[in-house]
Amino acid sequence: MTDRQADALVVFGITGDLARKMTFRSLYRLEQRGLLGVPVIGVAVDDMSDEQLRDRARESIEQAGEHIDEAVFDAFAARLGYVSGDFGDERTFSRVANALHDSRNPTFYLEIPPSLFARVVSGLAGAGLVSNGRRVVVEKPFGHDLKSARALAAELHRHLDESQLYRIDHFLGKMGLQEILYLRFANTMLEPVWNRSHLASVQITMAESFGVEDRGHFYDPVGALRDVVVNHLLQVLATAAMEPPAGGDPDTLKDSKLAVFRAMPDAETTRYVRGQYDGYRDIDGVAPDSNTETYVALRLEVDNWRWSGVPFFLRTGKHLPVRQTELRLLFRHPPRLHFLGTDHRRPEPDQIVVKIDPSTGIRMILDAQRADRPGANEIELDMEFAQEGGEGATPYEVLLHAALVGDSTHFTRQDNVEQSWRIVQPLLDAPPAVQPYAKGSWGPARADDLVAHYGGWHGPWVPED
Ligand code: BG6
Repeated sequence: MTDRQADALVVFGITGDLARKMTFRSLYRLEQRGLLGVPVIGVAVDDMSDEQLRDRARESIEQAGEHIDEAVFDAFAARLGYVSGDFGDERTFSRVANALHDSRNPTFYLEIPPSLFARVVSGLAGAGLVSNGRRVVVEKPFGHDLKSARALAAELHRHLDESQLYRIDHFLGKMGLQEILYLRFANTMLEPVWNRSHLASVQITMAESFGVEDRGHFYDPVGALRDVVVNHLLQVLATAAMEPPAGGDPDTLKDSKLAVFRAMPDAETTRYVRGQYDGYRDIDGVAPDSNTETYVALRLEVDNWRWSGVPFFLRTGKHLPVRQTELRLLFRHPPRLHFLGTDHRRPEPDQIVVKIDPSTGIRMILDAQRADRPGANEIELDMEFAQEGGEGATPYEVLLHAALVGDSTHFTRQDNVEQSWRIVQPLLDAPPAVQPYAKGSWGPARADDLVAHYGGWHGPWVPED
């Protein structure tokens, strides 16, 4: 055990949706890998016994698709305890303190609506539970615009130092994202071409083949830009664009990302397309005249020596034809090959594709041809990471484990959060009208105009390709 290692995990909101879908399963899997090792105390307003919490844990793990190994589950269940109480009542926090017995370094995980963060943090502070650098893990959203992000941070900073705050962006726990950084800087073949001298544009696609389903109440006031662009996709962009961090400590890494964000001009509404899939307004919790976007495509710039003049095109949407997130680098066009004669086609630009989720891998698209068979001959060199390395940890396992051992590398810092909001703020202030699109299509046609001079949208590369 290091000094940073937590000796208990307290989960506020243990009866919520996220716990049901992600937390129990992730903690169970950490137990399975021998990485949990601490008591887990759930806190929520519901009246429930420890035994009922264990039943709930079993049910959630099974529903999440995990096959239960009884010995592992017994070990996990033995760690679970429950404290019931209102988050506004200081007695709840005394009960949490009692349940922690002689724990010296508990970590607190707030999987509750952000509107309750301040209340819980001040309750914890009142009970003396967040002194000595103890960590508090919070879930997005971190505000709904720049102003509210600042206000939220100010509230939290009343009791917590920034270094105590572990903000979850679950994309930072994805294997694919870490692999991008490694790929970029571990390969002499790649690093020298990863810039404006060689690249014409960059595309980041996060396609989802499902809709908003039962999340209408949450989603309608939020929309795709806030839900996944300002956080997840800007993290992908920063990972693709940053300079190599000159040290392994979390702050150096976050400083490198911050430098990317600071070099990005504010987004422009003329380069922003919003879409809404047909049928979205019929969803429970969605306003019948809702103008919330379920699709966005936009162009961003990074105005520094590495990237100036290389547009970054981002797109994401619900109910698109496939589910896949990828990063795609499009190289500059090669010149005409005069030795092939005047009527020969111009070779296609090369591409490098990194697929991030649900499958991970790298593909290089080159142009080649056999001398006896002229014509288009695109060749694809693929490497599926999963096949090379086996099944990896899920994002929440990575993040909860990192929170327990006190490694903040995979969590976002307030200055990065504020820069992200600053970049998209003009799009929030003056959103263009939403364009309808059919379920299962690639979104509104207007999104194609954005990339018309850059060879159109590509991919994403999906497993069966
Ligand atoms: C969440 C969003 O943060 O990320 C969801 O709220 C989105 O709307 C999800 O579907 C995507 O995450 P993943 O890991 O399934 O790609």
